[in-house]
Amino acid sequence: MLEKVDEIRKAALQACSQASSVKDLEQARVRFLGKKGELTLLLRSTGQLPPEERPGFGRLVNELRDELEAVWAEREEQLFQEEEERRLMAETLDITLPGRAVARGGVHPITRIIEDTKAIFMQLGYEVVEGPEVELDYYNFEALNIPPDHPARDMQDTFFINERLLLRSQTSPVQIRVMENRKPPIRILAPGKVYRADSDITHSPMFHQIEGLVVDRGITFADLKGTLELFAQRMFGSHTKIRLRPSYFPFTEPSAEVDVSCIMCGGTGCRVCKDSGWLEILGSGMVDPRVLAGVGYNPQEVSGFAFGMGVERIAMLKYGISDIRLFFENDVRFLKQLGSEGGHLC
Ligand code: PHE
Repeated sequence: MLEKVDEIRKAALQACSQASSVKDLEQARVRFLGKKGELTLLLRSTGQLPPEERPGFGRLVNELRDELEAVWAEREEQLFQEEEERRLMAETLDITLPGRAVARGGVHPITRIIEDTKAIFMQLGYEVVEGPEVELDYYNFEALNIPPDHPARDMQDTFFINERLLLRSQTSPVQIRVMENRKPPIRILAPGKVYRADSDITHSPMFHQIEGLVVDRGITFADLKGTLELFAQRMFGSHTKIRLRPSYFPFTEPSAEVDVSCIMCGGTGCRVCKDSGWLEILGSGMVDPRVLAGVGYNPQEVSGFAFGMGVERIAMLKYGISDIRLFFENDVRFLKQLGSEGGHLC
């Protein structure tokens, strides 16, 4: 039996020193020191010895276990260090490789047009205000001099929620909301979403408008024209010319549609301006005296002008885009082409 202890000791020490990896060592440990390992088996055989020899034998086996465990721990530490060293040597980190670029987001073209327009008018002392998208018929139509059954309602295919409530079809109701709550002088810009039941390559059921309103003593049509000319030149370039064409809106009198000289060809005629040399960009006019009276102003004392433009239309002209839906599909390849750099005024 004693020889057996010695034999196992030798075999175990040899296996330990021959193990060439932590994994090997662990396998050897299981073989000798594991639950079903050789030492355990040896200890179980104690019963075969005469009773007086049993305690001594047991102690011997336990001493051997302690010894082997210590040897194993030491060897394990050593092998671990060796493996770690080998791994570090094999691992090369090339710090001269260029890093992976993080894709940068950009400002959506519609947001850019809105921000640029805000910047232009804020420099002129305008205040930016907002109004609700779910609007009362009263503000969207009636207070803008469009009574029920007025044919002008047909100009805008409105989404009605019920008899009195609708999705605003224009930003003009903000004019009324502002005038109801303040006294002139008023100089506001109101950007926001509007809704119309219309959908094709140049119309989207949701789109954006920017409304402008100025009311004060002595505001004239010349103020309207000068303001819009300045806006057009800041937005499209200093060579831009504007042209006013008589038009009709129920809440402005007189009314004018404003064209800018074609930003593609400069006015000589091209595909974008359909050879006319001009592009229509907004509707405008002098605030109708009935609208002023409706909010409690005296049209004899104050006058004003208003304008409203479609943001998508301006973006389509500025960036040469022929399908409005591209703005809302949010295909990153499209948005990347109109990245945040280039021509942004802010
Ligand atoms: N709200 C008008 C439209 O959507 C545009 C407009 C605004 C016209 C202000 C005149 C004055 O067509």
